[in-house]
Formats: sequence, structure tokens, C-alpha cells
Amino acid sequence: MCGIVGYVGKNNSCIKVLLDGLRRLEYRGYDSAGIAYLENEKIVIKKESGNLENLSNVVDASIDSNIGIGHTRWATHGKADRKNSHPHRMGKFTLVHNGIIENYNEIKSDLMSKGYVFESETDTEVVCALLDYMYRTDKDILKCVRKLGSVVEGSYALGIICDDCKDSIFAAKKNSPLIIGLNGDEKFIASDVPAILDKTNKYIILEDGDYAQIDADNVRVFAEGKEKFPEVKEFEFSLSDIDKQGYEHYMLKEIHEQPEVFKKTTKDYLKDDLNNLIDMMPDFNKYSKIRIVACGSATHAGLVGRQLIERFANVKVEVNTASEFRYDKLFLDKDELVIAISQSGETADTLEAIKIAKNNGNDTLGIINAKGSSIAREAKMVLYTEAGKEIAVATTKAYSAQVAMLALIALNLAVSKNIIEKSEMLSILRDTKNLPNYISILLDDDEYYRKVAESIKEHNDIFFIGRGIDYALAMEGSLKLKEISYKHSEAYAAGELKHGTISLIEEGTPVIAIVTDEKVASKTISNIKEVKSRGAYVILVTNKEFEDNSFYDEKILIPKVNELLSPLLTVIPLQIISYELAKINGCSIDKPKNLAKSVTVE
Ligand code: AGP
Ligand code: GLU
Repeated sequence: MCGIVGYVGKNNSCIKVLLDGLRRLEYRGYDSAGIAYLENEKIVIKKESGNLENLSNVVDASIDSNIGIGHTRWATHGKADRKNSHPHRMGKFTLVHNGIIENYNEIKSDLMSKGYVFESETDTEVVCALLDYMYRTDKDILKCVRKLGSVVEGSYALGIICDDCKDSIFAAKKNSPLIIGLNGDEKFIASDVPAILDKTNKYIILEDGDYAQIDADNVRVFAEGKEKFPEVKEFEFSLSDIDKQGYEHYMLKEIHEQPEVFKKTTKDYLKDDLNNLIDMMPDFNKYSKIRIVACGSATHAGLVGRQLIERFANVKVEVNTASEFRYDKLFLDKDELVIAISQSGETADTLEAIKIAKNNGNDTLGIINAKGSSIAREAKMVLYTEAGKEIAVATTKAYSAQVAMLALIALNLAVSKNIIEKSEMLSILRDTKNLPNYISILLDDDEYYRKVAESIKEHNDIFFIGRGIDYALAMEGSLKLKEISYKHSEAYAAGELKHGTISLIEEGTPVIAIVTDEKVASKTISNIKEVKSRGAYVILVTNKEFEDNSFYDEKILIPKVNELLSPLLTVIPLQIISYELAKINGCSIDKPKNLAKSVTVE
């Protein structure tokens, strides 16, 4: 969530590096920003609430400095105002923090009884005071940073500067991402590589429990008191990969990348003889059942996956919201495969869910987009989606890459169990080849989606309905709309409306009805007629032709393909309608209010 960046090196442009880095982390979502840097042997702190522009306005980037730390905050403890924003300073320590300190109240009371006075309401300032307090007796910074691990509960990525060692940044990490970037006699810390990608693509990943001392010439990483020598990795993307490339928003660019993402995600598995589909994937037949844990859109991808795997492979799949799963009574049979789906690979609840499954003795598989991320490292097996870097907070291409991967798993099981007809198999292979083209055709219809968005722009309650796979897609359509256009919307199982919610349908209420799932299409149409007759303005998304056109007002026709692949087409108009509606309403499309790209807190 939010972001950290830090610089120490032989170059004096630290302030610029920090501001540029924070700008590149903006996509993660934040509500205040700040930096601390060394100027004439003194630590100077500048911080402001609101966007980075406010911070830039009070910082003179031409000042020479060769060490500093920066932060964008997504407030968890205390309002998003200036005093709560980071960096925080207490005694000799200045620090920035991402995460949540769960036992901060106890530590705070203890430190207050020792005379510490706190300025902010944050949990972060408590860590700063704790370090200062421990250092008064220990006089060994690294030892104190290490000790934090045993006192502090919760999650943290920390960038620390101590007045007694002004040529080093100290870092520590637990359950919040942090990397160290390397470029000769310049070193960096960051929440994510793009923050420093104009400086270097070489980096070290800190693991949970690691802490480090970083100066211009050296990086020393420790775990439990012992020095370790982590592998130096190379980030595979370039700055141009994280550029808008002429699109008005990252979200639009990412929507348009979906044909390519589908090709990349499926190409290695789907060759003519299908051997790779079996050889390159785990042996799913070993498991009695599949349990999917995920959050937000990744859960919705899981719900589509559930329908596909159950229908094509006849294997039971249960989908659990990770934040619930982690506190539910654990009914997990040992021979269940637990699949975590995550774009970022850093979502705290999903990460915890996979740890719980692992501790229970279950095999775990991550369907992950960010290579080498925490969940990818935690899971026993990983299948990477090939969506590339996703910057817009609202996921589009990563969601469809997850659905594509789940479709591949369904197919793998169906083929290996020998329960799929040859003719169906051939039709899937044919549709796979054509799918990128079909997605492009749908993308070309953007003018019509804009018109649809115009037609519903005055309404504040919008319904999405569908059954089966279409219900899972309705959930994703509704979440997309809520996230970026700030319109209230609900996804309903079409058959369930009449058990209560239909009371909300009145003259003109927009209902986006999805009808692609063959098995239940006629049932959904009856439900659509129920809302239409109560005044709903029906936008039908379907792959069917109907003689009767009296039950809808607008119709978006998607190409008919095998149902294994159809969700990848249905979702396109849903994404673009949300995008257009958000644009009409002047919303901050790539960085919606209150949201963060990577939710690394519980
Ligand atoms: C989707 O548009 C959301 N931003 C959000 O629901 C997201 O899918 C969720 O937070 C899970 O993220 P992950 O895939 O990185 O784990
Ligand atoms: N919990 C800290 C705060 O509220 C850090 C939040 C963050 O990760 O930005 O200040």
C-alpha cells in the first residue's frame, strides 16, 4: 500500500530521486506525502497532506543532499493530515513506515510512562520512539532494528535514518514489501522497483524478518543476527513498459493490452499437441478438491474459475475471500489444493491465507502476476500470469489473465481425466487462436459503450445481474463501476432479485444484464423481464440473437465462443462502460479515492 523510497549515494540529487520515486509510486494510492533528507549535516523533514504536488511546492529540489527517505501514506491510524504524515522523528531517529503496528497502543503507553510525548496519532511514531528508547541503552542501531522484530506485532516496511550514522539507511521488513536497488555507488530502498527504474533495474528482495544497513558502497542484509547474501535480481520491465504510451489513462491502456496478455498467458500451454498443457502444470489430479483464496477482483476471477473447473473437469472448487478465510474455522482437508490468486502477490490477507494452508499441511499454488512477490515465494507452486506491469488501481488485464489461467487449469484437468470430447477440444483451440482478435473487435466498439455510459450517467444505483458464470462476471462489472466511477452498484444473482432487491427497481433504474451462460440463459431472460416490467432500463450483454427485443433497451453483442473462453470477452464491455462512466463524471480513474493498488495491510 502507498510507498517508500530512499536514496543513499555519492550523488547529491537525493531530493529529486525521492520525489521522482514517489511520483512513480503514486499509482499505489496515498493521501499524504513526505521526505526527510540530510542538508548540511542536519535532517530536514518536509511533509504535506494531499497529493505530491503539495509536497513538491514546499521542497527545493536543487538542494544538495546524498541521503534521504520518502513516503506516500495511505492512512490507517489517524487522519490524513500533515502531522500524521511520514517521515516521523523521535530523538535521534527519523523513519518512514508502510504497514500497521498492531500492538502500538501497549508500546505507546509504556513509552509515555517513560516520558515520550507523541505528536501524531500514528502507530508509526511509536516505532520511532521505541527505536530511540532502545538505542539509549544499546547504542547499536542494527541491534535495535533487529529487536523491533521481537517487540512489534503487525506489518512493516521501514526506512530509517539515525543521527549517529548519517551515511546509512537502515531498513526492516515484515509482511509489507521492500526492495533494495543497486547502482554502483548509489543505493535505494523502495516498495517496488518502478519507483527507481530510471536509476537501476538491479535489486534485492527483503524477506520477512530481514533487516539491513545500506550505504553508498555496501548493502548488508541480516536475518536473526546473521548476515545473509540475497540474490541480486534484474527487473524485467523497462520504463517504457510503465509509460501510458499515448493513452489518456493507464486503465485504458491496460484494457487495450488484453489481446496481447491473453496470447502471452496461454501461448506456452496451448500448442497443437497439448503436451505442454499437461507437462508445464502441476498434477491437479492428486487433489480431491480445489480451494481458492483471494481478494477483490481476484476473488471474482476465482468465481469464474470455479464454474469452469467444475463444469469442464468435474472437480469441486470452493472460493473463499481471504480476509474471511483467515479467521474462519479451518475446514480444509489435507488433500485439497489451495490456490491463491493475486496480481500483486503482496495482498496481506491472501498471503496470510496461503500461510495458514501451508501450516495445515496443504499443497499451495499461487496464480500470480508479479514475479518473485511474497505470495509467489510463499506458495509451493506458482503459475505466472503474463499481464505485465499493471498500474491502474482498478485491475483489468491482470483479472483477465487470471481467468485465462483458471481456464487453462480447467482444460488441463479435463484433458488429463480424458473427459472432454475431441470436437469440443478442437473448438477451444480454434477459439483460443481467434480470441485476441475478438477482444480487439469488442474494444473497437468503444463509442457504443460511451453512449451506454451516457445513458446511465444520471443514476446513482446501478444493478448487474446474471446467473452462473454471468453472475461471477456481474460481480466484477459491479466492482469496477464502484471503484472508479463512485456509483453505487450491486451485483445480483438474477434469480435472487425477487427475494428482496427487486423492490429497488423503479422507472429508469439501470440494470446491466449478462446472458452468455447457455445453461441458464432462458432463466435469466425471465428475470430480466421481471425487472423490465417494473421500469428498469436494461442493458443486455449477450452472445445471443433474440427475435424478441422488447425486454432490453440496449444490447451489446459479444462474439460466440466456447464457454471456457467466453468470460474473457464478456468482461470487456463491462470494463469500458465503467471507464467511460468514470470519465464522464470526472473521476480520478487511475487512482480512485481511498483505494490502493496493493493492499499490504489487513
Ligand atoms: C480490483 O480492481 C481491485 N483494485 C482489488 O479488488 C484487487 O483485485 C484486490 O485488492 C486484490 O489484489 P491482488 O490481485 O493484487 O491480490
Ligand atoms: N500505519 C501507518 C500510518 O497510518 C502507515 C500507513 C502506510 O502504510 O502508509 O501512518
